[in-house]
Amino acid sequence: MAKLIIVSNRLPVKLQEKEGELIFKTSEGGLATGLGSIYKEGDNIWIGWPGQVVEEPEKQKKVTEDLKKENMLPVFLTETEIKEYYEGFSNETLWPTFHYFSQYAVYEQQLWETYVQANQKFCDAVAEQAGPDDTIWVHDYQLLLLPSMLREKLPDCTIGFFQHIPFPSYEVFRLLPWRKELLEGMLGSDLVGFHTYDDMRHFLSSVNRIVGHGSMHGWINLSSRSLLVDSFPMGIDYEKYAGIAKTEEVGRRANIYRNNLHAEKVMIAVDRLDYSKGIPQRLDAFEKFLAKYPEFQGKVTLVMLVVPSRDEVEKYKELKEEIDEKVGRINGKFSDINWNPIQYFYRSYPLETLSALYRMADVALVTPMRDGMNLVCKEYVASRHDQSGVLILSEMAGASKELSDAILINPNDINQMVEALHEALTMPEEIQKVHMSSMQETIKRYNIHHWVSMFMDRLSYVKIKQLSMA
Ligand code: UDP
Ligand code: G6P
Repeated sequence: MAKLIIVSNRLPVKLQEKEGELIFKTSEGGLATGLGSIYKEGDNIWIGWPGQVVEEPEKQKKVTEDLKKENMLPVFLTETEIKEYYEGFSNETLWPTFHYFSQYAVYEQQLWETYVQANQKFCDAVAEQAGPDDTIWVHDYQLLLLPSMLREKLPDCTIGFFQHIPFPSYEVFRLLPWRKELLEGMLGSDLVGFHTYDDMRHFLSSVNRIVGHGSMHGWINLSSRSLLVDSFPMGIDYEKYAGIAKTEEVGRRANIYRNNLHAEKVMIAVDRLDYSKGIPQRLDAFEKFLAKYPEFQGKVTLVMLVVPSRDEVEKYKELKEEIDEKVGRINGKFSDINWNPIQYFYRSYPLETLSALYRMADVALVTPMRDGMNLVCKEYVASRHDQSGVLILSEMAGASKELSDAILINPNDINQMVEALHEALTMPEEIQKVHMSSMQETIKRYNIHHWVSMFMDRLSYVKIKQLSMA
């Protein structure tokens, strides 16, 4: 039977050691939470890194066996690979460049070489599992070279690639010394997908100008094959988020959290610790808002969850310090005995807790400087069981293309964010419901199952088309 092989750097679970025992925790991040609902079907398998260095062969064997029961296969990365391929080239070269933070990008040949080597390691792991009729679906910027490596080993196999982060404009992409090799790596696919039309256009323009292949309606004709490039905005498992938010237990927790805050209005923000998420800018806006509208002092609390992420990377460490400092300063300036403007948590939370927080919050603040899609804003919308609530959303998030009923802001415009906060906190409930129910309809329809079937249908279509073109 033909199967689907999903490949990503990170598996949807991460390995942790607790009192000598190996345990698996759910991974954070949109890729893992989004696809987490679909890989368990049939013989499908997800290949990726379990999030920790495991050196001893006995331990590797145990981890492999445990993951196999859950349709997963680990790729064990060495300490050097984690440093140079994952933290280094993936997160200090590609991540900043693709999010328009090229001033943060590091260009080092050694990191590139380990990136090539690690992609080859993933390639070997996939080739061992892949049968001739299987479909291989590669995910994200850590594995840009994998499609062409797989194509070389398995010339006839079906390969889809999806990028979960933005693709920058040619002017930014061309700064990368390895731009040609990266594009050639992606062109090993039959179908290349992005969240938005703009990302897709940027990619096509770079392919044209850097490797000299033009395109027609998204088709690129190589001498050996044709491939298609298209946009597929990723959705969430709507029923899961809506269902859990409605439960009595989540309602009970939401009430407890809310009562403990001693605030008339509550706002929520949930992000991985990342400079692309615009956390300091949002704090600046909230500080300015409290100063400009003092009647809200003592009345509104921002609950801010920051999930630890990539904490060995220098820029992330610096950001953590900046956030700690800003939160401390704002709370020191405005707090009184019964009220804190910001409740700040630096850790990750399980789904039930997140759901209760989404359900309790009158306003969600999702204000990234750049984001491929952003699933948190969709999860908030899905969790609003009574259609109340206001979403403030950055124009720079892929999700803003679909959620035009949110209050859209430019995260560089602090004054606009201040006014958006005021508008959200004073919006009449009947207006909230009009906007929220319209956004719910959109994300209910374009959910994760819809996204997977759109991508898979298009991939099958490409294979059929290729035969007729041959
Ligand atoms: N998330 C989580 N636990 C937390 C906080 C967040 O599992 O404590 C999840 C959240 O529900 C969402 C994902 O992490 O599904 C973040 O995805 P998003 O697309 O918003 O941003 P990314 O982290 O991928 O940049
Ligand atoms: C984003 C990326 C994913 C990544 C996730 C978490 O969602 O698109 O590829 O897995 O962030 O980051 P991490 O570095 O912890 O895997």
